[in-house]
Amino acid sequence: MHAHLLPGLDNGPENMSEAVFLASGLLDLGFAHLYCTPHVSKSQPGNTTDKLSAVFEAFRRSLPVAGLAVEVSLAAEYLLDEGFEGLLEANSLLCLPGKRLLVELQPNRAEIDLRTLLFNLRIKEYLPVLAHPERYHFLPNYRKVISKWHERGYEMQVDILSLTGYHGASTRETAVWMLKNDLISGLASNIHNRNELDLLRRSLESSKVREAVRKIGERGGNLYPEIQ
Ligand SMILES: [Fe+2]
Repeated sequence: MHAHLLPGLDNGPENMSEAVFLASGLLDLGFAHLYCTPHVSKSQPGNTTDKLSAVFEAFRRSLPVAGLAVEVSLAAEYLLDEGFEGLLEANSLLCLPGKRLLVELQPNRAEIDLRTLLFNLRIKEYLPVLAHPERYHFLPNYRKVISKWHERGYEMQVDILSLTGYHGASTRETAVWMLKNDLISGLASNIHNRNELDLLRRSLESSKVREAVRKIGERGGNLYPEIQ
C-alpha cells in the first residue's frame, strides 16, 4: 500500500517499461495488489489528481499486455507541507481504502503544526496513515510522538527495508521497537527502483523480516477491514 510505480511523476521509474518491470518483480515476491502512491507536494505542482489518474490508467492497461495478472489501485503519498491545506480544502485527495490518507512529514514542521494538520484531517473524516514514522528522528521525542499517534488511532506504516538497516541503524531500532510494541498497522515496499526491488527480495529471505510480516499479517495489518 505504498509504492512509487507510476513512471515519470516522482523519484520512481522513468518510463513505462521500467514501471512494468518493478510491478513484475513485486508480483514475483508475492504482492497481489499494488497501490501506486506517487509523491504529491508543493514542489511537484504537476502531480494533480487528474494527471496521476491519467498516468495510472496507462500503467494499468500496460500490465495485461505484459502478461501480468496483478491488481493495481491508485492512491498518493502526500507531504504535509505548506501546500497540503489547500489540497485538503479542494477535497480531491487520492486515498487508500476506508478514506485512509497516506501522509509523510517534512523535517522542518514543528509538532504543533502537525497536531493541527492531523486534527484537520480527522475533522474531514480522513484516517491518517503515517508513512515510515520510524524515519522521523528529526521530531523531538519522536518515540513519544509515535505512541501518541497510535493512541489517537492513526495508522503507522513501516517500510520493510527499515527492518533491514537500509535506512540506518537507528531507523532499524525504531522499527523493531514499533514491532515489539504493536505500533505498526502495515508494512510497505515503498519501492522506487530496481535496486530497492533487489534489496526487498533479499530482505524477504531473512527469517526476522518474514517473522515481522507474519506477525503484522496475523493482526490484520496490510489487510484493512474493507478489503479482507
Ligand atoms: Fe514513499
